[in-house]
Amino acid sequence: MRTRPLKVALLGCGVVGSEVARIMTTHAADLAARIGAPVELAGVAVRRPDKVREGIPAELITTDATALVKRGDIDVVVELIGGIEPARSLITTAFEHGASVVSANKALLAQDGAGLHAIAEEQNKDLYYEAAVAGAIPLIRPLRESLAGDKVNRVLGIVNGTTNFILDKMDSTGAGYQEALDEASALGYAEADPTADVEGFDAAAKAAILAGIAFHTRVGLDDVYREGMTEVTAADFASAKGMGCTIKLLAICERAADGGSVTARVHPAMIPLAHPLASVRGAYNAVFVESDAAGQLMFYGPGAGGAPTASAVLGDLVAVCRNRISGATGPGASAYTQLPVSPMGEVVTRYHISLDVADKPGVLAQVATVFAEHGVSIDTVRQQGKDGEASLVVVTHHASDASLNGTVEALRSLDTVRGVASIMRVEGE
Ligand SMILES: NC(=O)c1ccc[n+]([C@@H]2O[C@H](COP(=O)([O-])OP(=O)(O)OC[C@H]3O[C@@H](n4cnc5c(N)ncnc54)[C@H](OP(=O)(O)O)[C@@H]3O)[C@@H](O)[C@H]2O)c1
Repeated sequence: MRTRPLKVALLGCGVVGSEVARIMTTHAADLAARIGAPVELAGVAVRRPDKVREGIPAELITTDATALVKRGDIDVVVELIGGIEPARSLITTAFEHGASVVSANKALLAQDGAGLHAIAEEQNKDLYYEAAVAGAIPLIRPLRESLAGDKVNRVLGIVNGTTNFILDKMDSTGAGYQEALDEASALGYAEADPTADVEGFDAAAKAAILAGIAFHTRVGLDDVYREGMTEVTAADFASAKGMGCTIKLLAICERAADGGSVTARVHPAMIPLAHPLASVRGAYNAVFVESDAAGQLMFYGPGAGGAPTASAVLGDLVAVCRNRISGATGPGASAYTQLPVSPMGEVVTRYHISLDVADKPGVLAQVATVFAEHGVSIDTVRQQGKDGEASLVVVTHHASDASLNGTVEALRSLDTVRGVASIMRVEGE
């Protein structure tokens, strides 16, 4: 074993960073044995230097993160501050001063992964971020390394624990969205401002990262179609149950059937109870990967939390340290396919549509004609009538999002259609 330690700078010592520091200390001997050299915490950058940080020597704490990454003797910078700036500048400076980087920063990687990979490559350094997509769940390494000889066609995942907790509550208790969100907040599963989770921004960032890696192309944040789950109602769950389904907020990355383009999207969707993702409960995450040779794979586990996320960060740290010792770098960005990202209108899926209609003869035929005129074929229709009003639940065969939107627009203009109560995509069949 090499006796000179590898020096690690920790940027951020919050929920994840504090766990990384703890595990680095408690597992120091094992980490050294696995890496082939001891790993030394050389500095910890924070915002509030006076906060008590158990297990971290006070002399390691600094508020000058830039000076820490510029030291020149740092082997690996572990960025756990989050957000775009100063994280981006600190990572760039770290590369320029000879360090490799491990990060868990999905927002930054989704926004500027390509740029950061380019600098890493230029400087011949590693950029690893297993923790950025699904916490503890190994996903980036399996996609980038284990499946490097296969062809991935689809990645379908529950990548946000907060929203899965809320939807699971709604499903199991019949609660409405607000009630389930309040419970998630009380139990610490939802942030004070839950927008990033419930509006799908967090999942969209993860979808952008996953799609790029899975299909060896570049997928930006703006390429990801995004719909949150705040409009999902108890009535939607009742409809889903009637179809043998539940509702999940899914991140879906797909290669087109002709292989010439890809799509990435985040939205709530019905999935059959028999699908493995339907049984992912509480705040857990799971990602279902379909590839040519391997077939169907599922990755499951805790998608957030200090210790689980630190597990993924530590895995990256070990890999990067091993690379430092061997003088190599691991796999970088692979975007050689340069596949274009198609707009949402070209996505093809099935739909569950609830309409409030007048309860009189001929309405069903009128509605069916509108679907036919837009090339959307109906699979099943269920009608319930009461006091001159009726609800009509239509489930379609596969159709493009553009055709479905055209259908809904035309339905809204019919006198006999009082309103479109809900539109939900049906996935996983
Ligand atoms: N929490 C999770 O479950 C989870 C899961 C997956 C990925 N992630 C990602 O992990 C990263 C860290 O998340 P977290 O939950 O650990 O965040 P956090 O608890 O808010 O911790 C952030 C840390 O960064 C420090 N910091 C903030 N601004 C700084 C600055 N300008 N210079 C130096 N230090 C600064 C803070 O210092 P103070 O301690 O002094 O405030 C704090 O220690 C994020 O990218 C997040 O998306 C988190």
